[in-house]
Amino acid sequence: MNSFISQFARPEGAVGRMLGKVMAVSNRKMHRAVMAELGGAGRVLEIGFGSGAQLDMISKRYPGAKLYGIDISEDMLVQAEKRLGARAQLSLCDCEKTVFADSSFDAVISTDTCYFWNEPQRVLAEIGRISVPSGRLILAYNAMYAASVHRSLGTDMYSDDSIRAALEKAGMEIISAGKCGFEQRVFSAVIKK
Ligand SMILES: C[S@@+](CC[C@H](N)C(=O)[O-])C[C@H]1O[C@@H](n2cnc3c(N)ncnc32)[C@H](O)[C@@H]1O
Repeated sequence: MNSFISQFARPEGAVGRMLGKVMAVSNRKMHRAVMAELGGAGRVLEIGFGSGAQLDMISKRYPGAKLYGIDISEDMLVQAEKRLGARAQLSLCDCEKTVFADSSFDAVISTDTCYFWNEPQRVLAEIGRISVPSGRLILAYNAMYAASVHRSLGTDMYSDDSIRAALEKAGMEIISAGKCGFEQRVFSAVIKK
């Protein structure tokens, strides 16, 4: 993996901390679009919370929501904990295998992260397990950037077609797919089980 992409895949050190702050701003349109799709409170898990900016936005709009987040970067955990304090329960955890009980969440969200998943079907199955029946999965991504990650890592979920195919293969029903900025998209799906 080239070092530039590896810093987005798992931000670390001074460069990673700086990138966390940059993404808090550069991903804001995607964060807003995810929040609009979320549409309310409930138990929400964010996969790959980075700086915590998206959970911060959601906690201010929906103070009744119970917010959780997982990320594999220790530096992002520290940065997000500083931003969020007690407003979210954050942990270091890989989304391929989480520690949550079955049916723990009403919605799972993830921004700018799905092209780093090595085994998307395993992640989507895990999301299905920890979601309530008819829970929501909301994914936002940057198509231009995703294509370059795909060229470098060969991962599967990097375009409208590949994301659509992966969600459908996992038995999820896509209920909306829209643009939220230049080359930025948001998918919303219902989790069937
Ligand atoms: C490009 S950053 C996006 C951060 C944040 N979502 C945002 O919009 O600013 C990708 C984040 O996903 C995390 N990540 C990557 N692979 C992950 C995995 N398998 N499980 C959980 N988090 C992961 C990285 O550590 C990083 O914080």
